[in-house]
Amino acid sequence: MRLRIARDAAEHARLAADAVVSALPAGRAPVLGVATGSSPNGVYAELARRVAAGEVDLREATAFALDEYVGLPVGHPQRYRTVVHELVTVPLGLDPARVHVPDGGAPDLAAEAAAFERRIRDAGGIDVQLLGIGRNAHIGFNEPGSAFASRTREALLAEETIADNARFFAGADEVPRRCITQGIATILEARRIVLVAQGLRKADAVRHAVEDAPSPAWPATALQAHPDVVLVLDEEAASLLG
Ligand code: F6R
Repeated sequence: MRLRIARDAAEHARLAADAVVSALPAGRAPVLGVATGSSPNGVYAELARRVAAGEVDLREATAFALDEYVGLPVGHPQRYRTVVHELVTVPLGLDPARVHVPDGGAPDLAAEAAAFERRIRDAGGIDVQLLGIGRNAHIGFNEPGSAFASRTREALLAEETIADNARFFAGADEVPRRCITQGIATILEARRIVLVAQGLRKADAVRHAVEDAPSPAWPATALQAHPDVVLVLDEEAASLLG
């Protein structure tokens, strides 16, 4: 794992965007893995700035979201399909036809998960996967206890995640309990992984991710086995590292 520690939000966004852009392949259209939540917002804004300045061209890119809630009605503003469209697809100039988000309303979630895995494979795999991290070190919605061999599947949100994500909803009761998420093994197949974390609230999860022996108790420890992971932190998120 390579660590990059930023002094402020602008540098954090720049370092993370650098880690993404330097993983884009030359000579063919890139395949991106995109996270939702608030941590990557600065990175998306910085990438959008580079796209607008003509420094990066993502028009031919394909993108895959990490996860989606199950059970939110079509048109709900917190559906990740909507969030990805507004924060990623439009600002980065992606073609919506090549942006894939698992369908949390699919009647057969196992079939949807298998189809999502197939779409990633058919696209040639993910070149660079952007990740946030939960306070319990979840990645995607792979909560503590998730197998490192897990693939895209239906899963349950942990109580801590429901409480944390309540800020995006009218309250914790409104947060869906179920989701579809890329599995840990799915995430680890990305050729580069860029994990972003900011703030003291993430410091303990970051410390476990970097310093603990790999264990499903702290899902992000699985990243230690990957050959190309960049952790882009601010000083607060890095503050408990030894
Ligand atoms: C989002 C996702 C989650 C978030 C994590 C951190 O697609 O899969 O793992 O990255 O919950 O969320 P924020 O960034 O809102 O603190």
